Amino acid sequence: MSRLLLLHASPLGSEARGSTIAYQACNAWQSQNPRASIVERDLNKLALEPLQRGYVEAIVDGSPHHHDDFTLSEELIQELEACSRLVIATPMHNFTVPSSLKLWIDYVLRHGRTFTYQSGRKVGSLQDKPTTVIVTSGGMVTGAAASQPDHLTQYLRDVFGTMGISNVRFVYLEGMARLDVAMDMLEAGRRALATDPLFAGSV
Ligand SMILES: Cc1cc2nc3c(=O)[nH]c(=O)nc-3n(C[C@H](O)[C@H](O)[C@H](O)COP(=O)(O)O)c2cc1C
Repeated sequence: MSRLLLLHASPLGSEARGSTIAYQACNAWQSQNPRASIVERDLNKLALEPLQRGYVEAIVDGSPHHHDDFTLSEELIQELEACSRLVIATPMHNFTVPSSLKLWIDYVLRHGRTFTYQSGRKVGSLQDKPTTVIVTSGGMVTGAAASQPDHLTQYLRDVFGTMGISNVRFVYLEGMARLDVAMDMLEAGRRALATDPLFAGSV
């Protein structure tokens, strides 16, 4: 089974620039691997509700999980478990992930389901899988040219690491607010994805 889960986190959905090159890379991979499948989730269309009281109380006090949000949480976790590769196209919003991706994380990063405690430490319950995150930002976020804090990269590493997914790589399309830079970034992003290990080899 080779199933790729593609998450679109931009309010622009699959038309966002990060999503566009993610889509091209995923489609190229699938045409090389006709038996593989791609499942897409537009997190803005999914329009997750902020966590509700019953769900939070059940998580905090460990009471039986009757709240409707558990059904949705379970659906999203199973979708994550069922994929062998994960691609996320996300913009940076206010130095971190957009709220749609934060909510998805709140639904899938769940004690007793995607992580447990061992000797007082959180230990992931999911199988590791190649994960590539394409990050678009108006300004620069990496290296000496960075013009702002980056609370996205390490945050996502921690989130996925807590669930057991440590094989995570990042492709940055930064400085996208400038049209001349954006064109070069998109081209560099396409090249980076063309050689990304997630898409390597046949399945
Ligand atoms: C609400 C909001 C917050 C943003 N915050 C940042 C930010 O903190 N840093 C940054 O470099 N760009 C920021 N941007 C710009 C976006 O990251 C940029 O437009 C990006 O290219 C959008 O990518 P997309 O086309 O894939 O959606 C923000 C944009 C919006 C709408």
